[in-house]
Amino acid sequence: MRSVLLSTIRASDMSSALPPENERLQLPEGSIFSERLELRMVTYRDLHALLKIHRVEEVNRYLPFETWRGMDDAEIWFDKVRQRHRDREAIQWVICDRTSGAICGSCILFGYEHDHERIEIGYGLGRHHWGRGVAREAVSRLISYAFDDMAVRRIDARVDPRNDASNGLLERLGFTLEGRQRERQLLKGELVDVNLWGLLRSRWPQAQK
Ligand SMILES: CC(C)(COP(=O)(O)OP(=O)(O)OC[C@H]1O[C@@H](n2cnc3c(N)ncnc32)[C@H](O)[C@@H]1OP(=O)(O)O)[C@@H](O)C(=O)NCCC(=O)NCCS
Repeated sequence: MRSVLLSTIRASDMSSALPPENERLQLPEGSIFSERLELRMVTYRDLHALLKIHRVEEVNRYLPFETWRGMDDAEIWFDKVRQRHRDREAIQWVICDRTSGAICGSCILFGYEHDHERIEIGYGLGRHHWGRGVAREAVSRLISYAFDDMAVRRIDARVDPRNDASNGLLERLGFTLEGRQRERQLLKGELVDVNLWGLLRSRWPQAQK
């Protein structure tokens, strides 16, 4: 009885913590395309490909979850994604090569704040796909989607200062480094700083040049 009561309280706490229906993310109806890539919402069938990507230590080094050891880890991750989709609190895509259909990686929009017209972005690619401009193309397309289709005004990204590739990517895309939070997170047993990057819609056309 007590555990039933507690779970009821927890469930109601969680739903009251969510913004009202009309202030949550709209899930996209179809894929988003760029020249070489298709971004489509992740499904269970993508987990094998994502496991190949996230079982590599180097890929996961700066990501906020441990390196996956098997399908169990992939499924735990996917359960969380599904919950976030149900709550319309985040949108998780896989990044596919339009020619081969291969999954190169994934990207996410989350932390939407309707009143402040703001959202946060995240991404990760399989090791074999680094250095080919895939992230630039995918993240750039996602930025246009956020500004044009979601009408946000500002996009945030938080990055470990040691993650040269990710910091370099954001700079290349026209983000501004707005600050650094010291010892912001305990990541895999280590206290780490976080770089705060931001991009404004009013700056996006210029940033693309
Ligand atoms: C970060 C990541 C997505 C970059 O992907 P990528 O496809 O290799 O990046 P791109 O080839 O599109 O490079 C775009 C720009 O990023 C910058 N960049 C990429 N790799 C870089 C590196 N190792 N050092 C510095 N800058 C780099 C460059 O400015 C580059 O522009 P250029 O090609 O005109 O020089 C990839 O390294 C990755 O998946 N890392 C593991 C997961 C991760 O850390 N995600 C981010 C968490 S915040």
